[in-house]
Amino acid sequence: MYMVRVTLRDIYKSFKHKKQAVSVLSGVNLEINEGQFTVILAPSGEGKTTLLRVIAGLERPDKGDVLIDGKNVNDYPPKDRNLAMVFQNYAVYPFLTVYGNIAFPLKVMHVAKDEIDRRVKTVAKMLQVDGLLDRKPTQLSGGQRQRVAIARALVKGTKLLLMDEPLSNLDAQLRTLARAELKQLQKKLGITVVYVTHDQSEAMVLADRVAILHAGKIEEVDDPLSIYRQPLNTWVAGFIGNPPMNLIEGKLVKKRTFAFNKSKIKIPTTVAKRILGNMETAIVGIRPEDIKLGSGDIKGTVTLVEPLGSQTLLHVAVGDTQIKVIAFHTHMIELNRKVSLDLSSNSMVFFDKRTGKTVMG
Ligand SMILES: Nc1ncnc2c1ncn2[C@@H]1O[C@H](COP(=O)(O)OP(=O)(O)O)[C@@H](O)[C@H]1O
Ligand SMILES: [Mg+2]
Repeated sequence: MYMVRVTLRDIYKSFKHKKQAVSVLSGVNLEINEGQFTVILAPSGEGKTTLLRVIAGLERPDKGDVLIDGKNVNDYPPKDRNLAMVFQNYAVYPFLTVYGNIAFPLKVMHVAKDEIDRRVKTVAKMLQVDGLLDRKPTQLSGGQRQRVAIARALVKGTKLLLMDEPLSNLDAQLRTLARAELKQLQKKLGITVVYVTHDQSEAMVLADRVAILHAGKIEEVDDPLSIYRQPLNTWVAGFIGNPPMNLIEGKLVKKRTFAFNKSKIKIPTTVAKRILGNMETAIVGIRPEDIKLGSGDIKGTVTLVEPLGSQTLLHVAVGDTQIKVIAFHTHMIELNRKVSLDLSSNSMVFFDKRTGKTVMG
């Protein structure tokens, strides 16, 4: 079985708005590995759909190259790129049955009738819509319709699947189910999936690799946990995680002491060893779940309590620094209560204040 690798080289794309060029992609470089699930994550309006359309050949970049398996496909129309795309509003044809919908791409290619039948039934079985082949899309649930759209995308035997927020029309429960199915399916088929979403929990769950798109460029590419634990810069740190990392500005006054707001944080030896360079003014990143409540010598006041069920999110003011803390015990913590915090954590990350980049080795 062959697989598909996609290389994006210095992609630029702008659109004209009232005679002014508005830049959307400004130098996107990305290597999409064969057989992997790559998620491109960005807030909405950052150019995710545009980037997918550039890969698909529906949009021509102003500059830069798209390579598929090492071959430059800039001049290839979409139909010659051997890929399939599932759009956000996965338009299944309402007048065709499920069978007709899945068979459609093969009919267009004038594939023989019995071959169509064989392939439709195989792919329908794979996506568990084989019991629904006679139905019309209006007689399906959102999740089933989405599976039909994926079946139709895969029926040609394409090994590269582009997906544009395909789960956003499903309700929360179905979305969780559908993403688990999608992940299993990708692993089973070994196909290359490029999936764009604004939803970071979707990205964390689905991706082998996450590429974060910001201001027209890829900010960071890595596996989800590495991005979560060790974000490359303060922008990523402030974007990933719900709530994201606390970013606290201060000074490294001694090798193992970070001072902010008249408070001091003791830096664990393992962390201190990994700080590179001289960090006179630094930003320290600490995840809300890594802060210990009730011990430690940093005193703060609870300014907001957000119960989340299994845990509680507290906003704590330490001087004029707001710190978010996840408390795992469920007993009620009242507003305005004075609390002690221990911010010393093995997973704290240091950033250079001037560049915003991590200084952890
Ligand atoms: N065909 C187009 N003409 C003009 N502007 C466009 C066009 N397509 C996208 N844009 C603009 O480009 C930006 C990025 O859009 P899009 O790629 O859809 O972002 P995302 O998918 O991340 O939400 C938006 O500001 C959007 O208005
Ligand atoms: Mg979009």
